[in-house]
Amino acid sequence: MKFFLDTANIEEIKRVARLGLVDGITTNPSIIAKEGRDFKEVIQEICSIVSGPVSAEVIGTKAEDMLKEAVELAAWAPNVVIKLPMTEDGLYACNELYKKGIKTNVTLIFSAAQGLMAAKAGATYMSPFIGRLDDIGADGMRLVKDLKQILDNYGYATEIIAASIRHIGHVEQAALAGAHIATIPGSLLPQLWRHPLTDIGIEKFLSDWSKSQQQ
Ligand code: E4P
Repeated sequence: MKFFLDTANIEEIKRVARLGLVDGITTNPSIIAKEGRDFKEVIQEICSIVSGPVSAEVIGTKAEDMLKEAVELAAWAPNVVIKLPMTEDGLYACNELYKKGIKTNVTLIFSAAQGLMAAKAGATYMSPFIGRLDDIGADGMRLVKDLKQILDNYGYATEIIAASIRHIGHVEQAALAGAHIATIPGSLLPQLWRHPLTDIGIEKFLSDWSKSQQQ
């Protein structure tokens, strides 16, 4: 499973990049706004740290505007992926970019039909939002499983990015469901490697060792 970070925070990215565990980055306008920095500057800095795909989202809602923005964003760094909303205009832009060989990530996917449309439009990635579905009492992980089945049924090359992840259980379940990628928020990072029983275990080993040395 590939592992993306769902953040534009440079410190968070460096912390995990140091471990060799970051395969890519996803951002959205809310994530960029949180950093209070220039969009281009932050994306270029991220691309200088991470060589894998870095999603930068368009703001325009009309296909024509999305395509103009896409050309600009794609020129910022070779690993920029154009993030497009799941709308009719977004699908048109996705297909146009596919024909030009520009990578895309179709975002805000909440149904299997939307995922199927993104795959047909030639999306490189699709982002089902697990947490936001769970928030409204739906089953986000069911969607990931259904999308995986659909992609496998027809041999689409589109990769699933399990997005809107709220807890580590989501990462584990997405891996079991066969999602190609999970994109994890920076706030969840320490939970990826920490477990209370690990901490207790280390404490016990060290205390037993130190007792044995005092005899
Ligand atoms: C990633 O591509 C999405 O933008 C992100 O995971 C959304 O997460 P949220 O529902 O926590 O805002």
